[in-house]
Amino acid sequence: MKFPETNRGSRPETEAELLALAEGVIGTASETRPADAVLREVLAGAGSGVRLDAGWVSGAVFAYYRWLGWLEDTGGGVVGRIRRALELDERFQQNPASFSDGHLVARVAPRWVRDEVEVTPALARAWQGHPVLWLRSRAGQGRAVVRALGGCEPFGHGKLVDVLRYSGSKDLFRTQEFHSGEFEVQDLSSQAVGFACNPLPGDTWWDACAGEGGKTLHLSTLMNNKGLIWSSDRAEWRLKRLKRRAARADVFNYRVAIWDGGAKLPTRTRFDGILVDAPCSGLGTWHRNPHARWTTTMKDVEELRELQFQLLRNAAPGLKPGGRLVYSVCTITRSETLEVAERFSREFPEFQVCPIKHPLATGAPATGGKRVAAGGEAASPSTPAEDRSIMILPQEYQSNGMFIAAWKRAT
Ligand SMILES: C[S@@+](CC[C@H](N)C(=O)[O-])C[C@H]1O[C@@H](n2cnc3c(N)ncnc32)[C@H](O)[C@@H]1O
Repeated sequence: MKFPETNRGSRPETEAELLALAEGVIGTASETRPADAVLREVLAGAGSGVRLDAGWVSGAVFAYYRWLGWLEDTGGGVVGRIRRALELDERFQQNPASFSDGHLVARVAPRWVRDEVEVTPALARAWQGHPVLWLRSRAGQGRAVVRALGGCEPFGHGKLVDVLRYSGSKDLFRTQEFHSGEFEVQDLSSQAVGFACNPLPGDTWWDACAGEGGKTLHLSTLMNNKGLIWSSDRAEWRLKRLKRRAARADVFNYRVAIWDGGAKLPTRTRFDGILVDAPCSGLGTWHRNPHARWTTTMKDVEELRELQFQLLRNAAPGLKPGGRLVYSVCTITRSETLEVAERFSREFPEFQVCPIKHPLATGAPATGGKRVAAGGEAASPSTPAEDRSIMILPQEYQSNGMFIAAWKRAT
């Protein structure tokens, strides 16, 4: 990433100032203070006096963590490492083949990861790449949003026409289309979860870990705004944001409730469907959030695996007989994906595994991507075969990684 042209010359000291800001973020970020949160604070507090290029500072911080595995012997302190990381990042963007597969696999993440994930060259390359921005338009409005925004294209046909890949350079949050709810920023694999739920208009669903409502809004769209969604989370501040987003998107068929994940459910309502979009280690988002590679530990994975199972176990009684329980996590560790799903199937035999038609199968896979069904067997992206569960790897569609499993309650 080059230093921004606009800043060169007019303020010769500005490059040093921006590097100092990036250095400050890196010096403050820690296991308990993620770099992206520190970045937001630092950028909000900087501003006056500096002709701030926030994008450049973020790019420098993210490049540092993306290439940290290559920086051990780099001199010049943190600033020296940032400069080196920016060089590596630029080289990778321009000539990815100049990095050997072996080096990438060995340095992209800490060693423990290889006990949990098959770190292939394709995955390592996906983690080193820059993330793609995905949007979801209002139902049926994909082409209209493409025309209005420019710089984006639909991912596929049918309902996938409303899934948009954005490669333009607008500040989308300032567009009139964003403020009038014509589109949401939502990753492709997160949209795949909504499709896998496959709710019907008139259904009653529970989005048990609703957070800021990304999936609640999509479920509502898929239900044509008909029926009801209970959206719960243990974090009240997240539900407040959900309400703001829902108002913008004209989504009204929902209720919010606090749920701490315990056995006491937020309502006596019995649901046609429940989505447990559980907290996770987030390895599927490590291209977006490279700092997490160096702060996440195997202990976190073990604790999260336990929490995920508890959430599933406690939510499950809320389902009607015949109803659909969906489990999703944006991670790709074995412990939090297949192992949680297998344990649930073992301990709750009245819940039968529901094979899932791959929700993205008729869309465009990323160049060089190869879809691998969760059972390990290769599957053609153009064949909407049904799998016992779905593992979307970051390299397949240039999206976040995601695991999805579903069950039907027999009695
Ligand atoms: C992966 S995020 C959900 C993202 C959200 N579904 C979306 O699409 O925007 C997981 C959520 O689980 C919530 N959570 C974490 N621990 C929980 C618990 N013990 N009980 C209930 N919710 C919990 C977090 O607050 C977080 O919002």
